[in-house]
Amino acid sequence: MPEDNDKRQFAEIFGGGGKLHVIRAPGRVNLIGEHTDYNDGFVFPMAIEPHVSLVCRARDDGKIRLASTAYPGAIVEFSIEQKITRGEPAWANYPKGAAAQLIAAGIPLTGMDALISNTLPVGSGLSSSAALEVGTARALLAIAGTDIDVQRLALLCQKAEHEYALVPSGIMDQTIVAGGKAGHAMLLDCRDLSKQFVPIDPADLRVVIANSMVEHKLVGGEYALRRRQCEEGVAFFRKSNPEIKALRDVTAAQVQAAKGRLADVVFRRCRHVVSENARTTEAAKQLVNREYEQVGELMVQSHNSLRDDYEVSVPELDFLVAEAMRVKGVYGARMTGGGFGGCIVALAQPRSVETLTSHLTATYSAKFAKRPEIFATTATDGARVIE
Ligand code: GLA
Repeated sequence: MPEDNDKRQFAEIFGGGGKLHVIRAPGRVNLIGEHTDYNDGFVFPMAIEPHVSLVCRARDDGKIRLASTAYPGAIVEFSIEQKITRGEPAWANYPKGAAAQLIAAGIPLTGMDALISNTLPVGSGLSSSAALEVGTARALLAIAGTDIDVQRLALLCQKAEHEYALVPSGIMDQTIVAGGKAGHAMLLDCRDLSKQFVPIDPADLRVVIANSMVEHKLVGGEYALRRRQCEEGVAFFRKSNPEIKALRDVTAAQVQAAKGRLADVVFRRCRHVVSENARTTEAAKQLVNREYEQVGELMVQSHNSLRDDYEVSVPELDFLVAEAMRVKGVYGARMTGGGFGGCIVALAQPRSVETLTSHLTATYSAKFAKRPEIFATTATDGARVIE
């Protein structure tokens, strides 16, 4: 097991002996449904193979000590008996936030030592932060010998993201990282948090991720700005219809009728969210029906809408999508995650993966003088205690 090496390192850092737990929390890729979660809309993500792992052991005091294989030699220490405050190093705010939210929810914790390692590229839009939050929370629960409902865990971790990482994210990432199901994508209704799992048949499909190697920064103000623009849209539609609580409640016809009456940028943000919700439920339906061409077409429409109406793409992502679509056997491709860099996701026939990988590597390297990182992944389970 890859974690055996982590266990050896754990003993070197924290000393040997005692019962060790091993936790694995996956990253995620969103197949379609982008910037819809904070509008009470629909998303369609799956958990992926790259993951954050924690090797951990209970302490008999209230201290939490964290080491990371990414920062050898440094140990972050805080106490569950005192108010947990955010600060430096920045990566520790995710585990700190998870611990703080579990405590605030009244779950009794004990101290722990943990070594964190990560096979997910950081800052690439594959939810390394949600994996770290959910993984830490799972570790603390395992050590305390207790468990909570998976969706509650996700909601607490989302709160950690808001209050300790200061990113006003929606509920998609923590929900899929905590509650993913192997072999399936999750159609999540972000209003009532109901879920439909749709199988992804490995005989028919590969999910391929290509990292533009442009680091995305959600912490930057653009994400929060998009949220505000959506709220501005809601305020406008509510004036004539007080039943409207979120862009989820607005129809395509209502958006169209608002053209010229809403600021153009807000109009386009609303048009993206409303059309994306429709595309997402439709894509899930088409995937159930194995209508892969249709799913792919919806993915490309999603990308174009994110590029033109929501304005969260960058030329590197547009290029990767366009080049992916030139490869025979690729059904669809789009940027995935918050945007401004990060990855594209492509849905492809198994036999086209090799050509897709070599084509993207060659064309992208020639154009942008950097090598994209490309891998195919299956859908995995959400965060698990594996030992
Ligand atoms: C980030 C956020 C999610 C979601 C996506 C965009 O990943 O964490 O909540 O809003 O951006 O779909």
